[in-house]
Amino acid sequence: MHDVSLSSQIRVIAPARGIGGSVQLPGDKSISHRYALLAALASGTTRLTNFSTGADPWSSLRCGEALGATVVKTDDGTVEVTGTGGLFHAPGTPLDCGNSGSTMRMLAGLLAAQSGTFTLVGDASLSRRPMERVRKPLNAMGAEITLTDSHAPVAIAGRPLRAIDYTTPVPSAQVKTAVLFAGLQAAGTTKLRESIRTRDHSELALQAFGAEVDRTLDGASIRGGQSLSGIDATVPGDLSSAAFFLCATLLFPGSSLIFDQLSMNPTRAALLDVCTALGGRLGVLNLDEQHGELVGTVQMHAPEYGMRGAKIAGALSAQIIDELPVLAAIAPYTRDGITIRDASELRVKESDRIALVASNLRAMGATVEEFEDGLAVAGGQQLHGAQIDAGGDHRIAMAFAIAALRASGDTEIHGAESAAISFPEFFTLLDAVAQR
Ligand code: S3P
Repeated sequence: MHDVSLSSQIRVIAPARGIGGSVQLPGDKSISHRYALLAALASGTTRLTNFSTGADPWSSLRCGEALGATVVKTDDGTVEVTGTGGLFHAPGTPLDCGNSGSTMRMLAGLLAAQSGTFTLVGDASLSRRPMERVRKPLNAMGAEITLTDSHAPVAIAGRPLRAIDYTTPVPSAQVKTAVLFAGLQAAGTTKLRESIRTRDHSELALQAFGAEVDRTLDGASIRGGQSLSGIDATVPGDLSSAAFFLCATLLFPGSSLIFDQLSMNPTRAALLDVCTALGGRLGVLNLDEQHGELVGTVQMHAPEYGMRGAKIAGALSAQIIDELPVLAAIAPYTRDGITIRDASELRVKESDRIALVASNLRAMGATVEEFEDGLAVAGGQQLHGAQIDAGGDHRIAMAFAIAALRASGDTEIHGAESAAISFPEFFTLLDAVAQR
């Protein structure tokens, strides 16, 4: 049943005629988390410009504060973190990770080696997400981590750690990060291998804060006992937030949109390939590198005769896992449809994203086939406005605001406030670039 909760904030999205102008996205969520957590552990002060405005990276900052770091937001929006010089203090009360799986999993890696006991808690959604995937390698390194039925709360008794050689069983940058963050503090050299290459922000951030990380095509290794020093950095614009606007642009022949200072990290940029496969034309200007992270100005032009279609599977599904909901949401407007497979991880994100995308597309009148590991959405379908249930999931709220732009009639997004988890400015920016 398509059950829409009535207690949450509703945003009404009217159809648009096109998209135009330029946008400057807040700092990338993944990079902001890593800078926040490493800054809290490092010696000295880290100054972060364009830090994410999303609630999730602020959960990382607040946890860092509870562990002894000082966090100051200056008048010009810069976030200054003065770190603990490698020694967290145990706060005695639970560390609240909110809705943020990144905070919980990556912080577990840092805390595993610290002396004291720590408890990580989260909201109802986070408390349903799998945590065994971090418990297993960290316990193998000598930490004592206890879960409740494989879920949060995550109780950590920090211990001196020993290095391991670990192959991640699921492609997960968060698990990779937990192991590397623990390895930074372990005796010996920790090796992390992955069969599908996930985002490499942790490797780059560790290097930026002064650690040596050896990288290979299938992983990374880190020697324990290295210390970190604070940095000055500008966080590149968030490509996963840009995804909503890239897809919105593709919907309207003749539209184009410019993205300033956008993250162009190659391990994140596969979405741009998919946009191009759908028929979008892409221009990249002013490529630059900051602390190993690529940044550029991107212009996306919509395909002249409408979007083609795409089959997304294998490693590609893992690489664009956060962008799959919005791609599925625009799929009915393609010519050949979009099929997504090998994406069962979508079922254990902030919501079961496969089920929610399917039920919301159906509410808008689309025909959708649902698989355990993905979806097939036929092309050539016209959607109508409907009541959308965001299910407390930021990416579902935003994905369907984009689908709504080409529907006939208005669409109500119920639970629109959840966009603030990663992108509080989303609805304001959408109003600014949507031509009506
Ligand atoms: C993230 C990794 C991905 C992604 C999440 C952010 C990160 O999760 O879905 O939004 O910053 O490392 P997994 O590590 O669970 O795949």
